[in-house]
Amino acid sequence: MLKFFAKYIESELGIVYAEHNYFQLENRLEEIAKLVGVPCIQTLYEQAKSGISGQFKQMLLDVATNNETSFFRDPKVFKAIENTILKSVSSFLSPGEKLRIWSAASSTGQEALSLTMMIKEFNLKDKQHIGFSILASDISERVLARAKSGSYTQLEVQRGMPAPYLIKYFKKDDQDKWTASSELLSHIEFKKINLRGEFGIREQFHLVLCRNILIYQNLEGKMDILNRIGKVLAPGGYLVLGAGESLLGLSTDFEQCLIDGSILYRKKK
Ligand SMILES: C[S@@+](CC[C@H](N)C(=O)[O-])C[C@H]1O[C@@H](n2cnc3c(N)ncnc32)[C@H](O)[C@@H]1O
Repeated sequence: MLKFFAKYIESELGIVYAEHNYFQLENRLEEIAKLVGVPCIQTLYEQAKSGISGQFKQMLLDVATNNETSFFRDPKVFKAIENTILKSVSSFLSPGEKLRIWSAASSTGQEALSLTMMIKEFNLKDKQHIGFSILASDISERVLARAKSGSYTQLEVQRGMPAPYLIKYFKKDDQDKWTASSELLSHIEFKKINLRGEFGIREQFHLVLCRNILIYQNLEGKMDILNRIGKVLAPGGYLVLGAGESLLGLSTDFEQCLIDGSILYRKKK
């Protein structure tokens, strides 16, 4: 029974549950059983055998994913992006063109908002007018809904956000939630995209961040996602992976660049 659900999650998300981690899956299925009001996992299984779709599918994908994220996660990476892309933006953009960024697997949106604040601050500091747009995507509707709201708890904003940015770009409400300004959110388009399937993206990006998701993929899934990201990245554009992820030993369209102590990958021209 657990194998059945593990196989389904692997086929949909590429996330592999090793047998010794089945207990985690079991706990998560118990949560779903409670949420949908069925007595046990066995009943869920009976229902699932005749097809997994709609709300049940979304719940399963939601509980199978780890949504850990924070503002300015791995700050060195933001410095490296500033130094490689923002400081030489004219080599990426034609006059009047916008800088296009994709925060793939963006979870609750902290990464996309961090990039937005970083570019706005850079524009002010350098007296520049870099126009930009950010696509923030995730497979989970639950985290996307939170990302769209731009609303965060005190604990969440304390993780990584410089205090002056919080004061400048967020407003606190009566329930102690901090909400990003609508101007900040206006730079970001939120979209549900399963990286395992067709992205459905026509544009080309100058920068793609795909952090802390490839670690959950098997080799085949990883290569497939990387190859398709390569296709939506403009020549010379950059790919950023999570700190614990690397393309070492993989044959891809990217070359490795060490910038300010961070590894970025550049699409070969
Ligand atoms: C650990 S979070 C990382 C968030 C952010 N990229 C960061 O590094 O802070 C991983 C995110 O990947 C999403 N995810 C997992 N599998 C996915 C898939 N196949 N397609 C799109 N998103 C996926 C999860 O829903 C989760 O929000």
